[in-house]
Amino acid sequence: MKEILKAEGLTKVFESGQHAAVDSVSFQILEGETLGLVGESGCGKSTLARLITRLIDPSAGTIRLNGIDITKAKGKALREAYRQMQMVFQSPMASFDPRRPIGYGIGEALKNSGVPKAERKQRVAGLLEQCDLSPAYARRYPHELSGGQCQRAAIARALAVRPRLLICDEATSSLDVMAQHQIVELLRTLKQKNRLSILFIGHNLALVQSFCDRVLVMHEGKIVEEGTPDQVIRSPQSDYTKRMVEAAF
Ligand SMILES: Nc1ncnc2c1ncn2[C@@H]1O[C@H](COP(=O)(O)OP(=O)(O)O)[C@@H](O)[C@H]1O
Ligand SMILES: [Mg+2]
Repeated sequence: MKEILKAEGLTKVFESGQHAAVDSVSFQILEGETLGLVGESGCGKSTLARLITRLIDPSAGTIRLNGIDITKAKGKALREAYRQMQMVFQSPMASFDPRRPIGYGIGEALKNSGVPKAERKQRVAGLLEQCDLSPAYARRYPHELSGGQCQRAAIARALAVRPRLLICDEATSSLDVMAQHQIVELLRTLKQKNRLSILFIGHNLALVQSFCDRVLVMHEGKIVEEGTPDQVIRSPQSDYTKRMVEAAF
């Protein structure tokens, strides 16, 4: 299978930090694959997500998107990379302007990707429906939605630009168990319909097990384990993963 993203030797040392927050990380995400990234708080997951999406610059290493080196991409090339990779964050409310209805935020994403005004309303409705929300939600404000509904709206907005790779950074972590499973089911469906690849970042190993094709375990900035969820859970190789599996199950 073709790889959509390939990271090699990615490293990030923050000026204030003594150790590398991300330390020589290499991995790839295949087309249509759901890759899990798990590890305890502070191990470097979000930093890695921000590196591959070029929100921050690496200290070393390279990032390839669809075979194109985007490590130093600027201007038009960087905007194209941003379009192909969309992120969904932990706090769904924070991803929308509290003074604007949900439909406005999704409409802005469509506008930015060049969809003419006349088509936007219908596209917003379609995106909401794809995410199991009635088109009527376009007129609601973020505070009028539950956390799970708001996260589904955030996913709808991320899909507006037709990305190839969706990066979900703790996207279910602030939600209750029911809403978590609804989001995971939604992502599963969307992935099949849209030929999406997903990087699913979280600390809940059980959730990752049910959803991901492959899992990376991160510890102190390094990838310490890689395998299918079953391999990682049944026969963990690294000491860190063994402890994590013991704690989770
Ligand atoms: N902008 C920053 N400046 C300095 N240190 C940072 C910055 N962002 C993250 N870090 C540090 O990098 C490490 C990894 O953080 P993070 O990637 O947020 O971990 P995770 O997402 O796994 O919880 C932590 O030690 C954190 O304090
Ligand atoms: Mg994080």
